[in-house]
Amino acid sequence: MSALTDLYPQIQACRRCEIGYSRTKAVPGEGSEHAEIMFIGEAPGWHEDQQGRPFVGPAGQFLDQLIASIGLKREQVYIANVVKCRPPNNREPLPTEIQNCKSWLDEQIKLVHPKMIVTLGRFSMEKYFPGKTISKIHGTAKREGDIIYFAMYHPAAALHQGNLRKDIEADMLKIPRVLAEAAPAVQEPEKPAEQQKQLNLF
Ligand code: URA
Repeated sequence: MSALTDLYPQIQACRRCEIGYSRTKAVPGEGSEHAEIMFIGEAPGWHEDQQGRPFVGPAGQFLDQLIASIGLKREQVYIANVVKCRPPNNREPLPTEIQNCKSWLDEQIKLVHPKMIVTLGRFSMEKYFPGKTISKIHGTAKREGDIIYFAMYHPAAALHQGNLRKDIEADMLKIPRVLAEAAPAVQEPEKPAEQQKQLNLF
């Protein structure tokens, strides 16, 4: 057990929201505690609710392919969601549910301490790129502190709107370069913090 895996039974016992009662299984998240990249989705769907694991349905299969396209395996990254319980009938998560679940996600981020957070879809984008529009900022990065934030469409978008598949694949392929280009800047203490903050990598 670790501080990260210690969180899982706490999340599984959480009843802060109504969906804590309607879910089959809570879906805390999974992956490497030492992951450089953390993917954050929206909320569990039917498959995830059954299995208690994130991104295991059709959108998850596409996410696995995307992760493989940059030479990584699912076990090498960390995958979480903004909301840990399935909203019924696949409705969007409510603001109160996002707020109630925030401390779990923030704790996971603190413990994994990734170099890069990849937001998948509107709900996780809103946390780090508030007020932005996904069609405008997908495939772009910003740095705050020592974490790079990179916005992507949700992989499920490709399943519903086939024309987005190419954009999603192309955005994913940018990730290794964004990570590599951002790394030296993080190690340059002489660069003023404010300048680093404003850096827009794409
Ligand atoms: N969609 C999400 O946002 N998260 C999952 O875990 C599965 C589908």
